[in-house]
This record gives sequence, C-alpha cells and structure tokens, in this order.
Amino acid sequence: MTLLAAFTFVTAQAATPRLERQGSTMRLIVNDEPLLLLGGELGNSSASSAAYMAPYWPKLKQMNLNTVLAPVSWELVEPVEGQFDWRSFDQLLKDARAHDMKLVLLWFGAWKNSMSTYVPSWVKRDQARFPRVQLPNGQSTEILSAFSTATRDADARAFAALLSHIKAVDAKQSTVVMVQVENEIGMLPVAREYGAEANRLFADRVPAELMRHLDASRVHQTGLHKLWAEQGGKSEGTWTEVFGEGDASAEAFTAWHYSRFVEALVVAGKAAYPLPMYVNAALNRMNKAPGEYPSGGPLPHLLDVWKAGAPSLDLLAPDIYFPNFVDLAARFRRADNAVFIPEANNSDKPEVPANAFYAFGKLDAIGFSPFSIESIADRKPNPLADAYAVLRQLSPAILSAQGLNRMSGFRPRILEDETVIDMPVTEDIGNYSFTVSFIDPWTPEAEQRTATHGGLIIQTGPEDYLIAGQGIVVTAKPIGTGPPLAGIDHAWEGRFDQQGRWISGRLLNGDQTHQGRHVRLAPGQFQIQQVRFYRYR
Ligand code: DGJ
Repeated sequence: MTLLAAFTFVTAQAATPRLERQGSTMRLIVNDEPLLLLGGELGNSSASSAAYMAPYWPKLKQMNLNTVLAPVSWELVEPVEGQFDWRSFDQLLKDARAHDMKLVLLWFGAWKNSMSTYVPSWVKRDQARFPRVQLPNGQSTEILSAFSTATRDADARAFAALLSHIKAVDAKQSTVVMVQVENEIGMLPVAREYGAEANRLFADRVPAELMRHLDASRVHQTGLHKLWAEQGGKSEGTWTEVFGEGDASAEAFTAWHYSRFVEALVVAGKAAYPLPMYVNAALNRMNKAPGEYPSGGPLPHLLDVWKAGAPSLDLLAPDIYFPNFVDLAARFRRADNAVFIPEANNSDKPEVPANAFYAFGKLDAIGFSPFSIESIADRKPNPLADAYAVLRQLSPAILSAQGLNRMSGFRPRILEDETVIDMPVTEDIGNYSFTVSFIDPWTPEAEQRTATHGGLIIQTGPEDYLIAGQGIVVTAKPIGTGPPLAGIDHAWEGRFDQQGRWISGRLLNGDQTHQGRHVRLAPGQFQIQQVRFYRYR
C-alpha cells in the first residue's frame, strides 16, 4: 500500500456520520455510504438493563431493523458530578454491534417529556444551584428552568463527555449514527416560565437574530409568521408587541429559550464529536393551548424559532402519535429540514407500516422508527417486519432516488378525527402519471382496512419502475409528447437478494395485472414488482 493509499484508508474509516445534500433533501451518510434508518425506539426503561434487552436483540434483527433508538440518561452516566460511568452505554454499544445494529442515542438530560426526571440525584436535590420552573403562583415544578446557566453548563458538560466517549470507542465503526438532544422538550402546564429571570427577559425585546430569521424565512409561512403578520409585522419590539398579548407570544419566547439552551449542548457535543443531532417534538393537539400541550417544543408553527435559536442542530423531528401522519409529517419536509420520525406511533398500530412507505417514498425520510419496538418482537404475523423486509431490499433504490423527483409514496390520508380519505391519488413520476387507488377491486370491501394500505413507486429507467407496498392498484398515463396511452410491457414480482441483485418471481401479464389494465399489489402482503411501461396510440 502506498503512503497515500494508507492515508486514504485511515481517513475513510474515520469519517464521521453526517448529513449530505442530494437534490432537494439530505441523506444520512455512515461509513461513507448513504444509509436509510429502518428503526425502532425502545421503551424508556429497556436499555437500562442489558439482561432485559438480551432476548430482544436477535428478534429486532429478525424484524429487519438496522437501527435501534435507545436512551442514554444523564443520571446513569454521571451519578456523581464529574465522575462518568460508561458501563451501561458500553454494554449497549457492544450488544448493538453484536447484532449488526446502528444506534441513535436519545440524550435524556435536563428534560424528558417536559419533565426533569432523568437528571442525576445531585441535580434533583440541589434546587438552589439548579432552579426549577416557577408557575405564576410562585410554586415550583419538577422541571428544570431553561434560564439557569448552571443547569445548561452542567448538562452540556455531561453531553460533551458522552460525545467524547463515543468518539473514543466508536469513531472507527460508527455504530452510533445520530444523537437526539433531550426528549420532547416543552413547558407544562403553562405557556412559559414565571421566575424572575424569565419575567425580566419576557419584558425585554425579541432578539434581533430571531427577527432576522423570521424575516428571511417568510416563505415557510408557519403559524408564527402568520401571527407576526396579524400583529402588524413589526420589525422589533417586546414579545407581546411583536406577537401579541396571548399565550402564543409566551410560547414563542419559551421556544426561543429552549432552543438557545439546546444550541449550547449541540455546540459542546459537536466540538467533542460532530455526529448529526436533532430534537424531537411532542406534537400539539388542535384546539389546545400552549401549556395544555408541551409549549415551545420544535412544533410545526415554531420551526423557524428553533432554526434561528439552534442553528447547529441538523434537523427537527416530529413524534407522530396522531392519525393525521400525512399532514403532520409533511410540515417537517422543508429545504432546510430532512424528515426523520423518531417516534412513528406505537409499534403495534396497524397503519404504521404504510406510514413507513409514505415517509420514505413521499418525504425522502432519512429514517422511520415506531415506539416501543421490542413490544412487538414476538408478533406473528408481524406486518412491520414484513414492510421493513421490503424496504430493506429497496434501500439502495430509495437512497439513489431521494431528493431527485424520481420517487413518491402513497397512502390514504387520515384526518385528526380518524376519517380515512381513501380516494385515489395521482402523481407524475418521470415519464408517466400514476393514479394509485387504495381500494382493492378483488377483495370484498368489508374485508379491507384501507388505512393500512400504501406503497411507493421509484423510477429506475425511462420506462422502468419499482412498485412496492400492499393494498394498492396503480394505473399509468404517459406524460408529454408521443403516443397518449400507456401499456404494461412487463410486470415481474420478485425480490432483491443480499447483494442487491433482482431475483424474479412470476411474470404477471394476465389476471394479476387484469390483462394489462393495472398493476396490483394485493392487500395483506408487502411485495415488490418491477414494471416496464410503454406508449401506444
Ligand atoms: C413520547 C416520549 O417521547 C417517549 O419517551 C415515551 O414516553 C412515549 N411518549 C410514550 O408513549
């Protein structure tokens, strides 16, 4: 090996996981290859016991996951101030590697679901040094104040120590591919803190950086942009002058200060080891006031506050437990934000597998991860495992199409009140316009649960498409000049083997395609078809 080759080899091995742009989106690059995270998040307490986890690792592997999202809690790694204990993390790393699994770590630091239950005892018990949130009546809560530099610095030190440790033990392998900073940050049960420092800053002016960012990001027209315009679009002023007297201005203020706190952690953590980092949002239910839901998290209407306040974060991610996945997830797909769903509902929900196809196909998601994944490890049948088996085979095709308008995802839209809109959807992909129907013509309607139907279409050549999913019927029309009708040249069912080679199954040019009228992926079994269309008149 020449010296240059040896150097290239060493640096290639040491490349840190990162996000890289492709077309309109970002891809996660791990070990210098793009990686699609087929993930699952563990229940909160599972990773704190290696013995508890032991039987689950092989089952998660069998479910075709390549990534586990697992908490690392401040109290476990820094039980005594300044003395770090990495044993539980090292065991987690070892177990993940033994099962060929990547890890996304969830830093349960100052806040976990708004509260501060995962902070070490020495933090919990020192209220003078680590002050709590104060309510309007002066009472304190079990939430650490975001206005304490002592809390921020202690949390940032521990977080940076974790990143340094990951670098020391994992920089060569890159088992850990991404880190979530805190968990579902948000203020409860009121929209903002009422301690002396919080009150002082709330009476002060909105920081110029935030005003500049809001101005520059008008194109997004988030809820906050609209509120700002309704209040007269002032270019400066106090929080209530700019955003009005109501809870909404208190919430924007809360979001700003949470984001600044997080930025300090991200900067400290990335200085140690610059892994991709994100925060997750506990989404707000419609018609609830901030404080009734966790106020000030990275919510759709506040995305630009977080972008301005925590510019070092790589992305803002929604936890989606509501039925309206299509509408909610789309709000996080922006030119400046790649989609990652760290909690894609509870793993046992029947619509989750179709959401995975939608997230990857339509939103170019870098990853998808239902919650409490180990709770479904023994299920048979296991639709999520089946969906991941197909998505795993399709990963190279998905990754090469992301951000390039060669792919889309389909599933019936579901409204917040659970109404299923299972009308056909039409989209142009490459040289054909596709209409995807979610009601299967050959299965009695009473036996169909269209909320679980869905799939994706990827263009792989001028007339070649991979069509995958279940419970969808696809028809095509040519786009542009040329003969106006589309026929199916051929449709093969099949699969990709471990080396990514296509292994054909049956040729489907008769009853299975209704004599050339449509491509059908029957309900009940996720599958892939390789289809070539052609034009005629
Ligand atoms: C959302 C949280 O982020 C998770 O840690 C967990 O508490 C789930 N809720 C439980 O549904």
